[in-house]
Amino acid sequence: MKEIYFDNNATTRVDDAVFEEMRPYFCNLYGNPSSMHFFGGQVQKKVDEARNRVAALLGASPDEIIFTACGTESDNAAIRSALEVFPEKRHVITTRVEHPAVLTLCRNLSKRGYRVTELNVDGEGRLDLNELKAAVDDDTAIVSIMYANNETGVVFPVEEAGAIVKEKGAIFHTDAVQAVGKIPLNMAVSTIDMLSLSGHKLHAPKGIGALYLRKGVPFRPFLVGGHQEKGRRAGTEATASNIALGKACELAGSHMAEEKTRVRDMRDRLEKSLMELIPNRRINGGGAERLPNTTSIAFEFVEGEAILLLLSEKMICASSGSACTSGSLEPSHVLRAMGVPFTCAHGSIRFSLSRFNTDDEVDTVIRELPPIIRRLREISPFGREKLASVN
Ligand SMILES: Cc1ncc(COP(=O)(O)O)c(C=O)c1O
Repeated sequence: MKEIYFDNNATTRVDDAVFEEMRPYFCNLYGNPSSMHFFGGQVQKKVDEARNRVAALLGASPDEIIFTACGTESDNAAIRSALEVFPEKRHVITTRVEHPAVLTLCRNLSKRGYRVTELNVDGEGRLDLNELKAAVDDDTAIVSIMYANNETGVVFPVEEAGAIVKEKGAIFHTDAVQAVGKIPLNMAVSTIDMLSLSGHKLHAPKGIGALYLRKGVPFRPFLVGGHQEKGRRAGTEATASNIALGKACELAGSHMAEEKTRVRDMRDRLEKSLMELIPNRRINGGGAERLPNTTSIAFEFVEGEAILLLLSEKMICASSGSACTSGSLEPSHVLRAMGVPFTCAHGSIRFSLSRFNTDDEVDTVIRELPPIIRRLREISPFGREKLASVN
């Protein structure tokens, strides 16, 4: 039995074509692109091509792409840069539902004396731009708002947010790690100053990312040392990974229509069928605009971890909305920010699909999940009691 992998927001399989593209750059074409000789020069050419491909997916110019080690590095580089560019400004704005790559940094900054505003979301995970308007002021150095949420798939109105931020002269960054490759982006007509992306979310390997930096936006490097990446990110280039990211971006561009149709259709069918077959459930963020591949479903009166274990026995990989912190099961900060009731947040499961998934796999999950939920509710005295009173 082969695994059914519905956890693509956690990471994706490397596309075979991406792997083939990077393969020669380990044992054969291993030159350093900064070397003067032909052997390094041919690698440099291929890295340039990769940069062009990343830029093309974003509608950016190749000079605006900085290769990094991951989405987390891109996020950190963007926010730290803005604080160095504007040392006199001491205010940072973000949202309560960011990935820890942004949120942990911002919370650390607040311990170091920065004023940090975390914008709220409503019950569907949506942002209120009036709250942003009221929060941004002359002291704001940077606003960092994610493009799409990794847990619910909810897409934020980042272009409108960027316009508000620009009026106040602050820098606008978006963590687009979950959006790139899934929805079309065009930096040529955008209010975004900086944008983070990560290779392993779009069928490139782990350990490669990029930061889009709009031409003219001042920048201070996070890593200093050599002159790589035009002095904006020191360290010998991860050549094979850069080349892989370039290929993955090219493929993502050519598969974009499929994300919008086939992947979305599979997600919608999965969601609709589970809603029909299972009582006492809700879609987290179901009323908001969402990524085509993601659904987060809350099953009342059951533990997400128990559902995941039983799915895993059937070789089905999904993920729970809750993180296990120091032995106590804490519901996810995203679902808490949305005000999802405790009994729902605990039983939330995220399914995230990709172009490698099939209709047969969707059928299997539709067949396997309802009896799992039924069984768990039967053995949970809490669930039994509650459901008896609701039904
Ligand atoms: C929204 C978001 N931002 C940032 C990251 C971190 O990316 P990376 O794993 O490449 O550091 C992730 C990964 O899960 C993510 O989903």
